[in-house]
Amino acid sequence: MSIVYNQEAKLFVLSTKNSEYQMKVDEIGILQHLYYGAPVGGMDMSYRLWHMDRGFSGNPYEYQDDRGKSLDTLPQEFTGANVGDLRISSLSVRAANGSRSCDLRYKSHEILPGKYELEGLPYVRGNNGTLAVEEDAQSLIITLEDTILGLEVKLLYGVFEKKDVITRAMIMTNRGKEYIRINKLSSVCIDFPYGRYDLIHFHGRHCMERQMERVPVNHDIISIQSKRGMSSHHHNPFVILCDEDTNQTQGNSWGFMMMYSGNHKTEVEKDFTDSTRLVMGLQNTNFAWRLEAGDSLTAPEVIMTYAAEGLNQLSRNYHHIIRENVVDAKYYNLERPVLINNWEATYFDFNTEKILDIADQAKDIGIDMLVLDDGWFGKRNNDHTSLGDWFVNEEKLPGGLKKLADGVRERGMKFGLWFEPEMISEDSDLFRAHPDWAMTDPERKPMISRSQMVLDMSRKDVQDYLFERMSEIIRDADIYYVKWDFNRSVANFYSRELPTDRQGEVAHRFILGTYALLDRLLKEFPNLMIEGCAGGGGRFDAGMLFYCPQIWTSDDTDPIARLRIQEGTSYGYPVSTMGSHVSASPNHQTGRQTSLKTRGIAAMSGTFGYELDLTKISEEEKELMKQQIKDFRKYYWLIQHGEYYRLTDERDQNYFTAWEFSGADASEALVNIVITDSHANPELPWVKLHGLDPEGWYMIEGGDRRYKGAALMNGGFVFGQLIENMMKEPDNYPSAQYHFVKVG
Ligand code: GLA
Repeated sequence: MSIVYNQEAKLFVLSTKNSEYQMKVDEIGILQHLYYGAPVGGMDMSYRLWHMDRGFSGNPYEYQDDRGKSLDTLPQEFTGANVGDLRISSLSVRAANGSRSCDLRYKSHEILPGKYELEGLPYVRGNNGTLAVEEDAQSLIITLEDTILGLEVKLLYGVFEKKDVITRAMIMTNRGKEYIRINKLSSVCIDFPYGRYDLIHFHGRHCMERQMERVPVNHDIISIQSKRGMSSHHHNPFVILCDEDTNQTQGNSWGFMMMYSGNHKTEVEKDFTDSTRLVMGLQNTNFAWRLEAGDSLTAPEVIMTYAAEGLNQLSRNYHHIIRENVVDAKYYNLERPVLINNWEATYFDFNTEKILDIADQAKDIGIDMLVLDDGWFGKRNNDHTSLGDWFVNEEKLPGGLKKLADGVRERGMKFGLWFEPEMISEDSDLFRAHPDWAMTDPERKPMISRSQMVLDMSRKDVQDYLFERMSEIIRDADIYYVKWDFNRSVANFYSRELPTDRQGEVAHRFILGTYALLDRLLKEFPNLMIEGCAGGGGRFDAGMLFYCPQIWTSDDTDPIARLRIQEGTSYGYPVSTMGSHVSASPNHQTGRQTSLKTRGIAAMSGTFGYELDLTKISEEEKELMKQQIKDFRKYYWLIQHGEYYRLTDERDQNYFTAWEFSGADASEALVNIVITDSHANPELPWVKLHGLDPEGWYMIEGGDRRYKGAALMNGGFVFGQLIENMMKEPDNYPSAQYHFVKVG
């Protein structure tokens, strides 16, 4: 049993293979958070709470003679508001009479078999019979209430014992007679009463997403957030708390990943008692939700995991749960297509003939799918026009998409197509017909970005229009794959359909509208594969991964820049979700020159594809590409399902990046290295391998030496040959891939 309630102690114990999570209801019904970490055998961890009068920390009325008991110092599972806990709170409310107070007390709980699901929001899937890797998840629902306010708060927990994952979400319901204004909505609040922590988060910008940053948690509030209407390039909705001495292979770490693609916020505060609190939920600057009597509101799911063996372990926990329980089960055993995308090959300048020329080459090389990117619709010959006009541009593509798609299929490949559904150009027939569908502030000029505005996705008529236009095109041209783009931050949050006092709901309703459209399209076309995208990886989050098995990781296709982006991404997301392509050299974004080999190795740590003009490559390059595709297919399951390890750590300031995929049965491993900063007479790169059988013997494919697994894991592997080759034939960014195979 992974969820146990001890009636006498009023103690909840949630157990996974390597973690334990505890909560306890106290004498006055406060749900205290007691513990999250390595297993403690169910021992009631409340012995660690020391009730001291700290001064200026008041007491709930029932505790008035017990000055040590204050909401300001007790660790709490989910706070109320304005009733004495002056740290960051889970909620902010305003009752119809103006009161800002909310005092939540335990009411009841239930333990259920299976994993709860959420309506209208993505969630981690339980064992519903369709999963490739089944697991008996259990759910716990604890109900808290404020009887004066009439607010009921259900805390939802899903426990995946074998995967070391606990999910949390929250559903609040107004059980009173009058409306309640919700000004802050969170999914998770968690207190760590002891310890010193670092916070790891992933910041960035367009073309440089998910840069890992590690900062100490001091006596202030750190806030990681997006107000851009999207999870954003700038701050991913994923953070890690870890002990100060945690590194890739040792030490405690706790991950918090929000399954949400809109405005999000994570706050971390170290308070005056040195206790650390983390609160994760919706960004609330302009958030205000009018919760009518009887209505409910759900805070998105957060995926939590604890790992005792370093950050690699934490990442691998996420890789498993995302591959196996977040991404649609049908992709687990399906080999995804190696694709060619025409964007960096042609930009807007293409016609049927040009695309079919590329397809001819792609077929020869062994590519599985051609993706036609931006520019096929309306009058879209540049990025100033036509978003929303999802009608084929027959001048560019005479005979329509069907003819082109059939031509691609005749060459033995699948056909994929780009859309940017949630956008509208000022210069579009759609805007001329429905100016009110654009999300703009009345009487103000809109904020324009890339010459486009954002559609009001909260509107059903907008969703219906997009569903109808996209369905027709997908059906007519028999489209296998859609690249779903989103190329600007949202501003001017305003819906002309909502009343004045509901405008604070727009940002959340916007993303609910997007999820509803995705859900509807996938129900209509169950075999449609969608790759998420937002100017590269601006919406790379577990929410989108519920609908899209892969996401374009970044518009920066430079392999050296990509190493950092992909490495940052790997902390939370598996390689099987990272769209990654070989593009031209010099690179279009950075001008950097790299070998085709190095570009291939970087792109193979992803879904793999090409994005360059195949009609302009040499015979030699073509042969190498054929070999790359063969290699990728050979290693496909090792890369997609293998255990992923970062072998280098940014903190070591190496001049190389190395990473490994090891087979679950330790029968093989693929070790990759790229020199990111060449210099003469360098020190020898050396790494310790992981995930091998210590007693087993391994050989590098094509080599003649036998290595003992324990030797490679404890004594390490030296990339001597690579350096020798590099010194003989200097190269900017040399790279190598070694396939270790168990031979005994
Ligand atoms: C975004 C995407 C690119 C490409 C362009 C097309 O930037 O990330 O891959 O599709 O849009 O406009």
